[in-house]
Amino acid sequence: MNGKITVFGAGNVGGAVTRRLIERKLCKKVVLVDRSPGKAQGIALDILEASPVDLLEPVCVSGEDLEQTRNSDIVVITAGATRKEGMTRDDLLKINAEIVRECVTKAAMYSPYAFYIIVSNPLNVMCHVAMQAGQIPRTRITGMAGILDASRFQYFISKELNVSVENVQAMVLGEHGEDMVPVPRYSTVAGIPLPELMPAEKLEELVARTRDGGAEIIRLMHTSAFYAPASAVTQMVAAVVMDKKKILPCTAYLTGEYGISGAFVGVPVKLGANGVEEIREIELTGDERAALARSAEKIKAQLAAIGLTC
Ligand code: 2OP
Repeated sequence: MNGKITVFGAGNVGGAVTRRLIERKLCKKVVLVDRSPGKAQGIALDILEASPVDLLEPVCVSGEDLEQTRNSDIVVITAGATRKEGMTRDDLLKINAEIVRECVTKAAMYSPYAFYIIVSNPLNVMCHVAMQAGQIPRTRITGMAGILDASRFQYFISKELNVSVENVQAMVLGEHGEDMVPVPRYSTVAGIPLPELMPAEKLEELVARTRDGGAEIIRLMHTSAFYAPASAVTQMVAAVVMDKKKILPCTAYLTGEYGISGAFVGVPVKLGANGVEEIREIELTGDERAALARSAEKIKAQLAAIGLTC
């Protein structure tokens, strides 16, 4: 690894990811690329100008030309339109498919062996678009969604039970959208299964808030979240660059796991230096499995809507 990470999209998420990567010293260089080079340059310069105060070695450069991205270890795709109030992630399908296709086609020309982390929405389909555009093997591409959704679920649980967020582990599978599958059975507080700690109706309330997590932020600040998504991306980057072999809820391309083939679905994934090193199949109840299957069918319907084969 040469310590270079490229981030496509100098919007709120791209800027926050760049800063988090530098703060956590996960790379030697971040190349920020955007359709408007001035925006990438401005974000990069603003971050660089903080380095004397933050005592962080300045590593961020802006990508006026793609040559600077050559041989990146990791490429993060955050480019694309974001939801406005009342929109679903699906409403971004056609416009973001074009943007992601363009970004990944360019990225893959310069970094054909990089590990790709997709953030753009609708996430599950954008991973598929990226895989096809860059001809990327499924071990070298994943989507950021499950960690974000699980983090929201963990936060809501910690507030409800008045316990440290450090005590809470949560599992969220499936689609990054209304059909996501939070799994309380595999969520714990200090190792205690969540269902033992709160009544079913309260659990359902927190699950519903988790499903609505992205939309709740948009209702409040009239744009999509970016700090929590950036932290989730950073955790995935850390697992790869530090070869942590960490099992995390990530979006991976399934070829039969959980009885699903031909779609990117949120599942437990082992992330390490070789990317998606393993897809962990955990025991699911009939209801959980059915919910995951519904999630996958929703994703396949979105693929069909833009003419992508599964
Ligand atoms: C979210 O859930 C932007 O999809 C992202 O906030």
